[in-house]
Amino acid sequence: MDRILAACGNDCSACPRYTAHPYEKSEEELHRTAVLWMKIGYRDHIVSNEEISCSGCKPENWCRYHVVKCCAEKGIKACSSCLEYPCENIRECFEVTRSFEPKCREVCSDAEYALLKKAFFEKELNLLADQAVTYITGLFRDNAGGHDAEHTLRVYRYAMLIAEKEPECDRLTVTLAALLHDADDHKLFHTEDNENARRFLKGRVSSDQAEKICQCIDSVSFSRNRGKIPDTLEGKIVQDADRLDAMGAVGIARTFAYGGEHGRPLQDSVRHFHDKLLLLRDMMNTETAKQLAAKRHAFLEAFLNELDEEISR
Ligand code: NI
Repeated sequence: MDRILAACGNDCSACPRYTAHPYEKSEEELHRTAVLWMKIGYRDHIVSNEEISCSGCKPENWCRYHVVKCCAEKGIKACSSCLEYPCENIRECFEVTRSFEPKCREVCSDAEYALLKKAFFEKELNLLADQAVTYITGLFRDNAGGHDAEHTLRVYRYAMLIAEKEPECDRLTVTLAALLHDADDHKLFHTEDNENARRFLKGRVSSDQAEKICQCIDSVSFSRNRGKIPDTLEGKIVQDADRLDAMGAVGIARTFAYGGEHGRPLQDSVRHFHDKLLLLRDMMNTETAKQLAAKRHAFLEAFLNELDEEISR
């Protein structure tokens, strides 16, 4: 399911305390969370289920950093939209959160730790991703005739899905490479050397990290790297995510939308299935993508069979 970004960058959808629909928890689950909260030192005793359950931050809730109140006063939803980001206050919030991480790693099971990491320890990354989403949406709206922030957001979602099963990957690189992978697409933008991607990255990540992200983006492009497998795990993940979006129902919709826009006859779009889309299943790098691709490939084949039958009848 989709991430639910709290004002400070927490991901409520992963938090074992979060009970807003559709994340309802049983009494037993809430009690387990209360026990976990004591184990990791967030509470000094096992609190009641009522106290541990949470339906999201509200300005009136107590918060050491007053983040929600501060955002409400500024009329923004999260720190990622704040002109003063990252302020002293949020930096301290990140630091204190980080200070809990070693203890969590020590006392938690792998599953518990993974959950806490996703919910709390990736605040900065989540806020950065949120900024990238805003940047990309603006970039496509202003420069590419509305083309196609939606594709980028889907690729980002698939990349995150795959990354979850590849714990050794660098999530910062995967996140930003996925979100920026078409920011300098030559069909839409006349930029050199990932200029649009670099503009976003500058000052937000180190120059080494920016380089790593740009290399990842370069290794993903279908037209530039036909048949070539990216060297890095991060490149493999983003390439898989990008390719998945050319398959299945979305792939069909995109192919005919593109064909229509360029005045292509139906048969030309159908040829594109054979030239590219039907080859993608066997080009996936990761296990997760292979599984997702199998279903989407079957749907492509079923569609083509049906189309053929209807046309030739
Ligand atoms: Ni793409």
